[in-house]
Amino acid sequence: MQVGLVGWRGMVGSVLMQRMIAEKDFKNVASVFFSTSQSGQAVTLRDGREVVLKDANDLSQLLKMDAIVSCQGGDYTQKIHGPLRDAGWQGYWIDAASTLRMASNALVVLDPINIDDIHAALDDGKKDFIGGNCTTSLMMLAMHGLFRDELVEWVSAMTYQAASGAGAQNVRELIEQMGSIYEASKDDLASPKGGILDIDALVLDRMRAKEFPTEYFGTPLAGSLIPWIDADLGNGQSREEWKAQAETNKILGRQGDPIPVEGICVRIGAMRCHSQALTFKLSNSVPVLEVEKILGDANEWVSVIPNDKPSTISMLSPTSVTSTLNIPVGRVRKLNLPGNIYSAFTVGDQLLWGAAEPLRRMLQILVRR
Ligand code: HSE
Repeated sequence: MQVGLVGWRGMVGSVLMQRMIAEKDFKNVASVFFSTSQSGQAVTLRDGREVVLKDANDLSQLLKMDAIVSCQGGDYTQKIHGPLRDAGWQGYWIDAASTLRMASNALVVLDPINIDDIHAALDDGKKDFIGGNCTTSLMMLAMHGLFRDELVEWVSAMTYQAASGAGAQNVRELIEQMGSIYEASKDDLASPKGGILDIDALVLDRMRAKEFPTEYFGTPLAGSLIPWIDADLGNGQSREEWKAQAETNKILGRQGDPIPVEGICVRIGAMRCHSQALTFKLSNSVPVLEVEKILGDANEWVSVIPNDKPSTISMLSPTSVTSTLNIPVGRVRKLNLPGNIYSAFTVGDQLLWGAAEPLRRMLQILVRR
């Protein structure tokens, strides 16, 4: 199988490469590496291979591929996918962009949940397999058991999304903001007599100063937060918030009878793990221990964190989850509200299960068929 990789040096693409090398996926395919800007150049891959890059804008090269895995982003998908299909390309398109997700002939892939639908779509001759929005995929892996058992009436997902979801430049800017804040306050911090209100004033002055680095986020994130992610749909909702219900129900095959999924998406100063505070209504009163069992048994990545302070602060944080495929879910409680309303909190690496891993696994599903 000839597999073309595009956008493999970006943040999601680099994580995909790490995972494919770790899982020895390249042994099963003939891989061809594309570039939008450096075709013809020879490069050394992380696994030591030397390859010459092909032109990612050259349809004649892309047409030779049995599958294309793109982490290049939505603009590239928008530009290339249509013309490639118009030119008669029958290969499999796998990407992580939102461009094609809602198309009727595209499947949103999250195989621990919809492997049967993936095989049915392949049997059906479908060719476009698209990774879901990161928060949606991470929430669904955490809530998998409750969705599977059809217990969920609705979900509210209040998100705490990491800088990486906005892009590599944003991650750099977050760290620059942190550094700038430290710079502004370090002399007072070093003195044990430094008054905390003086330190606070120095920090705030810096965060509001013109020179504070905000080119990518447009506003301070370090020491603050941004309660808006992605485009404004004009109805009070952000596009990131809209995706949760649309994609959850597409993945569950419930577009005709959707489970309401709502919330506010917030950017916080974490590096690459998205966290979510979930409130959900179950169709009947299920004891918390049973809810935890249903959640914890659903797939091999989810684990239930006991709802106590030491377990929560050590195991349910971006710091502890980053760079792993773990989907911890904790803070499970029946809330003191009328009805069968529960809470949970979950954390997941948005570059792994939130982006690269569903694509990697989709390619392996193709290879194994
Ligand atoms: N839209 C996500 C975010 C990125 O901004 O965090 C992954 O889908």
